[in-house]
Amino acid sequence: AGAVAEATAVCARHRNDPAALLEILHDLQDQTGYIPEAVLPAIASALNLSRAEVHGVVSFYHDYRRAPAGPVVVKLCRAEACQSMGALALIETVCAARGIALGGTSEDGVTIEPVYCLGNCALAPAAMVNGRLVGRADAGRLDTAVREACS
Ligand code: FES
Repeated sequence: AGAVAEATAVCARHRNDPAALLEILHDLQDQTGYIPEAVLPAIASALNLSRAEVHGVVSFYHDYRRAPAGPVVVKLCRAEACQSMGALALIETVCAARGIALGGTSEDGVTIEPVYCLGNCALAPAAMVNGRLVGRADAGRLDTAVREACS
């Protein structure tokens, strides 16, 4: 009920404007860390949209988390400059090593998410670990950054 009330309040702050849906979802995620399934109907009804429309937007954009993140969040850039430096293979390796899919959270609380350009293209492939940039990322450097984030 808390999350639904919060979602309704965020919609009201945006005057229940359906054109503000993306911002509403961002605000909500900033507040609660993720967008729980349970709030989607409340958002749809506040904005006078169908549930399918809201659901479509939440699943289309990679920015929205559908489940709470772990204490360590690793964002791996998969935009062009990083792709050309092997980002996709790196993403695969890192996810496989933790036994999760991209967007998932491992048992030891590490969430791995895609991101589209961190503005660190010169040091591709780029990553961010709990807000700290990691340039020329490889599995070893990321492991080190994760360990540091945990300590
Ligand atoms: Fe990856 Fe810009 S493309 S940081």
